[in-house]
Amino acid sequence: MPTPTWSVMPQRRDTKFGLSADNISTWLQGSPHLSHFLNTFSLFLPVGERFFIASMLPYRDRIRDPQLAQAVTAFMHQEALHGREHREWNCLLHATIPGTPEFEKSVGTLLNRVLKRLPPSYSLSATIALEHLTAILADAVLRDERMLAGGDPRFVSLLRWHALEETEHKAVAYDLYREVVGSGLYAYLLRIVSQLIAMFIFWSLALSEYVRILKVSGELGNWKGWCKWIYHFFIQSAFMPKVGLEWLKYFKPGFHPWDHDNRHLLTALEHYTQRAS
Ligand SMILES: [Fe+2]
Ligand SMILES: [Fe+2]
Repeated sequence: MPTPTWSVMPQRRDTKFGLSADNISTWLQGSPHLSHFLNTFSLFLPVGERFFIASMLPYRDRIRDPQLAQAVTAFMHQEALHGREHREWNCLLHATIPGTPEFEKSVGTLLNRVLKRLPPSYSLSATIALEHLTAILADAVLRDERMLAGGDPRFVSLLRWHALEETEHKAVAYDLYREVVGSGLYAYLLRIVSQLIAMFIFWSLALSEYVRILKVSGELGNWKGWCKWIYHFFIQSAFMPKVGLEWLKYFKPGFHPWDHDNRHLLTALEHYTQRAS
C-alpha cells in the first residue's frame, strides 16, 4: 500500500468570528455580486462538511497506519468546526435572502442520498474530489491578498482560517482513499469519474443559486456589479483561470495533494492557534 509522500498533522482550533447580519449582502467591497458569490459557497459547506465526515466513517476501523488514523480524527474535528461556523454564516443569509434555507436543505438531501444509496467508496471518491477543489481554492485565496481585500475583517478572518485548515488537511481524505480503495486502475478511474460528476453538479447548483440570489436581491440587472465580479474573479488576479489549471492536475495518474508543496502558508495558522487557546 502506498504511503503518503509526507504528512502534515492537522490540529483542532476552536475559533469564533462574531459575524453580523448587517452587511451579509455587501461584506466584500460593498458589492452584492462579490459577497453573494462567496455567500453561495458558504451554503454548501455545513452539509458538505457533514458529508465528508460521514464518507470516512465506514473506513475508520480499517486504517492500519496510526498516523493516518490520527489525521482522520483531526480532519473530522476540523470539518465539524468549519460546519459550525458556516452554519452561523448561513443563518444570517437565511434571515436576509428568501429561498436559501430550502436550497441548503436540498443540497443536504442530495448528499444524504449519495451516502445511503451508493457504495461507501463512491462517497469517499466524491469527498476527495471536493477536497481537491477546496484545497486549490484555499491556495488561491491565501496566495493573493486581493481576493479578500476590502472585506469585513470578521468574514475575511473566517475564510482565511478555513482556507488554512483546508490546506493543512488537504491530503488526509486522499491518503485514506489510497489506503482503503487503493491506487490501481480502478481507484484512478473512480476518482476521476467522481471528480467530473462532482464538479458538474457543484457548479451547476452553485451558479444557478448565485444567479437566483442576485435576482431576489434585485441585483441581476446591475451590469456594473457583473463587471466588478468578472474583473475580481477572472481578470485582476486570474483567480478562476488559475484554479482551473490547478484542478486539471488531479487527472495525473500519480497525483498527490502534496505534489504542490505550499506548507509555508501554514505559518499563518499560528494566529488562530493562539486565538483558540
Ligand atoms: Fe472545511
Ligand atoms: Fe476539507
